[in-house]
Amino acid sequence: MSEVPATPVDRSTDDRARTLVAQMTEDEKFAWLSGPMAIPLAGEDKPEGALGSAAFYPGIERLGIPAMQQSDASLGVGNLGNVRPGDHATALPSSLLLGATFNPSLAFESGALVGREARQKGFNVQLAGGANLVREPRGGRNFEYISEDPLLTGVLAGQSVAGIQSEKVVSTVKHFVANAQETGRVMVSSNLSEAALRESDLLAFQLAIEIGRPGAVMPGYNLINGDYASENAFLLNTVLKGEWEYPGWVMSDWGATHSSVKAALAGLDVQSGANLDDAHHFGAALRQAVKAGEVPQSRIDDMVTRILRSLIEVGALDPVSALPIDYSQHRLIAQRQAEEGIVLLKNAQGTLPLAQRAKRLLVIGAHADHGVLCGGGSSCVPPIGSLSLPGIDMMGMQVAKVYQPSSLVQAIKEESAAQQVDFLDGTDVTLAVAQAAIADAVIVFAQEWRSEALDAKGLGLDGNQDALIEAVAAANRNTIVVLQTGGPVLLPWLDNVAAVLAAWYPGSGGAPAVAGVLFGRVNPSGRLPITFPASESQLPRPEQIDPATTTSNPGMPRKGEIIPINYDIEGSDVGYRWYARQRLKPLLPFGFGLSYSTFEFSDLRVNEPGKVSVRVNNTGPRAGATTLQLYIAKTGEDGFAKRLAGFEKVFLAAGEQADVEVQLEPRILARFEEGGFVIGPGNYRVWAADDAEDERLGVTVTLHAP
Ligand code: BGC
Repeated sequence: MSEVPATPVDRSTDDRARTLVAQMTEDEKFAWLSGPMAIPLAGEDKPEGALGSAAFYPGIERLGIPAMQQSDASLGVGNLGNVRPGDHATALPSSLLLGATFNPSLAFESGALVGREARQKGFNVQLAGGANLVREPRGGRNFEYISEDPLLTGVLAGQSVAGIQSEKVVSTVKHFVANAQETGRVMVSSNLSEAALRESDLLAFQLAIEIGRPGAVMPGYNLINGDYASENAFLLNTVLKGEWEYPGWVMSDWGATHSSVKAALAGLDVQSGANLDDAHHFGAALRQAVKAGEVPQSRIDDMVTRILRSLIEVGALDPVSALPIDYSQHRLIAQRQAEEGIVLLKNAQGTLPLAQRAKRLLVIGAHADHGVLCGGGSSCVPPIGSLSLPGIDMMGMQVAKVYQPSSLVQAIKEESAAQQVDFLDGTDVTLAVAQAAIADAVIVFAQEWRSEALDAKGLGLDGNQDALIEAVAAANRNTIVVLQTGGPVLLPWLDNVAAVLAAWYPGSGGAPAVAGVLFGRVNPSGRLPITFPASESQLPRPEQIDPATTTSNPGMPRKGEIIPINYDIEGSDVGYRWYARQRLKPLLPFGFGLSYSTFEFSDLRVNEPGKVSVRVNNTGPRAGATTLQLYIAKTGEDGFAKRLAGFEKVFLAAGEQADVEVQLEPRILARFEEGGFVIGPGNYRVWAADDAEDERLGVTVTLHAP
């Protein structure tokens, strides 16, 4: 059985937090246990002293405790509702793009960027660390999550959190746990058995918490097995604070608190966005419950101690100096991340990089002359110069469809040797076809906007985009499609186009990153962090609930009954594991991505339990990176379908080779049985692979019963 490491609490940090709490009045304590959203709704003012962001809790000057200013989110410092007019921030690419880098050090670096900008603006808590697994490929918030795999998600989310906190800003991980869809988001119950949860969604959080040591955990809006995440005693008390010995605080999502006594006793520490809830559960009602002896005073002290401990641990309670931010340097960091996470999905006859002889280029795509698409909702970062179009209504706030300023047309002009670059928005298909016929190559920017509070309906590109791509590809055989999407989409025209890139939502440096790949300055190395299905019929739940039948927003009266979602269909076999188990062939597998070079794996060796070495060879013409993926499957009664147990991104010059050793994560090799992870005896098949379908290089290892 593998050990579950506890997160150690520094003794002096703990003492300092307890000493402060002992000096606080009850009013001061309760002022930190609930708060309104500090983005005023129509007709309201923001709380005095608030910078304007997701939350504000007043400081206690006499004790040297600063105000808590909390901002969204994982992809940069957000500015929902333009609450801080004129504010500028660097927009990181979507988390799916980060997942596609398979690069933990980039996750740390970009987390540190967010932490620095947050601190400079006066925030000390960042509502970041999206660590849900992509269980529902049509989920509206998938772009805020890293992947469908627990190991990849846990490692990268953990590193990103560690990066933020290295800048003296507390980070959350969210939305704990199995919060996979937006439709009916406050009334869906994610139902699945404990073992499956432990081996998938919970494992992602467990890893992220071990690696990143986030100061706070935010439960999701959803229920898990019939109990709201924010008052789920099993998840909060038994697992998180009990088994994992988590020392930080648990803050509810905004408008996701449903009770006083039950929630407080289950492990919730703070009611966030209390103005969105039906009652002020952690205000007078909780005080009353303490008086009545229903909640012990020690629990209240514990709540505040947890908050202070986390702030102290990252250094947020010490005098914090904010250095000026070099935004152009930050944009370059965002660009470098985008360059590593763009995935080359198809490259027929070496169409890319585009040849110097392509003198006349046609660029097609809505607003490609202005910028790149940003996923909607609390995580969207709108740098100055963004284009805001009407989006959706979320909790009474208008969520814009934002194009961040990074002109694809301009970047293509700068990066290419073309003499003429024409641009069309794509609404007129006839015109596009006529222009395509006389161009040397056509670059189509296909787009799919996803947002918090709104799932995609189906997996198709909307509007006329599929028809446009088909028509243009018929007119020009050098048609290249660049996808900007918040998840997998169907590619019905895949056979008819020359090349395809997945650029996700590429952020502030998105356009030069895409152009760098198109014209060869960048050798692509991104890998799919999610499976692209061949059709929706392959999904564990092909049907979608009609979004119109449910109320999906917090703070609104619920319509209808709780909606159960049966995640036991796939259990812990999320994403590629499901395809392996069902023997389904997706359109494009998890882990897949092409390069302008070629790589070979050989000499696979299992050196000692859990340690695998592989020779990696760059056999191609140019320097680049590949991602060595180690999958494992077990046969027999306690067997399991293929799982990613380790990975390593390897950078090699042309012709260079390296022997790479990877430590496999023991809990991936285990089943959760009788209260713990157990690696059972039997036959294990290990593959050193290029993607989740690649089985060319494998070895069988037999473990004997002790
Ligand atoms: C989102 C959270 C976010 C919070 C504060 C909620 O609607 O689910 O991710 O941190 O709002 O803006």
